[in-house]
Amino acid sequence: MNWRIALSDIDFDIEESKAVQDVLNSRWLSMGEATKQFEADFAAYTGAKHAIAVTNATAALHLACVVSGLQKGDEVILPSLTFVATANAVRYTGATPVFADIESMQSLNISPTSIAKHLTKKTRAIMVVHYAGFPCDMPAIMQFAREHKLIVIEDAAHSAGAWLEDRHLGTWGDIGCFSFFSNKNMTTGEGGMLVTNDDALAEQLRLLRSHGMTSLSWDRHKGHAQTYDVIALGYNYRIDEIRSAIGCAQLKKLDRNNARRKELTILYRELLAELVPSISVPFAEAAGVPAYHIFPILIPKRGEIDPIMLPVDNYRQLFMDGMKTHGIQTSFHYPPIHHFNLYKEQEPHKKVDLPITEEVCAQEVTLPLYSTMTKENVRFVVDAASNVLEKMR
Ligand SMILES: Cc1ncc(COP(=O)(O)O)c(C=O)c1O
Repeated sequence: MNWRIALSDIDFDIEESKAVQDVLNSRWLSMGEATKQFEADFAAYTGAKHAIAVTNATAALHLACVVSGLQKGDEVILPSLTFVATANAVRYTGATPVFADIESMQSLNISPTSIAKHLTKKTRAIMVVHYAGFPCDMPAIMQFAREHKLIVIEDAAHSAGAWLEDRHLGTWGDIGCFSFFSNKNMTTGEGGMLVTNDDALAEQLRLLRSHGMTSLSWDRHKGHAQTYDVIALGYNYRIDEIRSAIGCAQLKKLDRNNARRKELTILYRELLAELVPSISVPFAEAAGVPAYHIFPILIPKRGEIDPIMLPVDNYRQLFMDGMKTHGIQTSFHYPPIHHFNLYKEQEPHKKVDLPITEEVCAQEVTLPLYSTMTKENVRFVVDAASNVLEKMR
């Protein structure tokens, strides 16, 4: 589909091309100087003691769960309003994801009150997701975790360049996991990063990223080692040099691009308030410095504009189809995980009671947002949204 305005876009130029060419010229393609540099740059940027680059955030989340010692019989509290990888990572270890509700129609992040409600004797960890790069209530969540001796893993897939109280998101808990998938604020195509301040966890993460081997091909190439032992059941979750080099180039643009996303978000808010006040926009009062990864809106409640009360899915679909006729790509973040068949089968008799998640999911639509978007693009999207809702009446 040739969109007039796509949901997201990348900001690549000569810097990324040069970074790739330099790696190709070096004739070393995996786990070398570029990856070392990317990890050093990311650690310096976030203030984390350790940064460990991996092949994607799903691998990062899985490793975080493994080094946290999660296993069958353990429970991990996390939101259902997230990408399925967050919960899948827990299940890879045999542990059980337990879904907590979000805070409100304004803050789509996990609610500390709901976390407390889901605590059992089996709870071992909390996994938070900073939705769209807006900070969760980390002071409250960390205090609760400390009181109950729980591990905190941050799914910071949306949060590169986001801060709360001068601490980068992902560095509040024990381990933070970032995504550099192609629609993210900084991208390497596929890619991920773990951050931690714990030396022992970092050592484990490095080991498990590469088969549990005590040395890398790079060490042997450099003459630092001639052989290796395998001391843990690891994985191949390595990133390659090409993507690490792109990551270094993208990191340099992150602050500038997030500032642009903020500017466009403010414009969206102003125009929507003026022209389509029936649409509400979450995170009006966000704390800290968000990453503005996506722009979620809540379309008016079913029945408020459509007198025939369409079923929920048709209703949202009607809006998204309407936007498509204007050449605008929209999305939905997220179909809640507990609605998926795979997750319904996990505990078929258990009723998952997440009223705010359900309500948000019936109304949420994500509008285009990316740093190279123009202000005219934003106006065009808002005009189209107004037009589509008018036609739905
Ligand atoms: C909240 C969240 N968690 C995890 C992931 C998984 O990231 P990756 O695609 O890098 O594995 C994503 C990706 O979109 C995400 O949005």
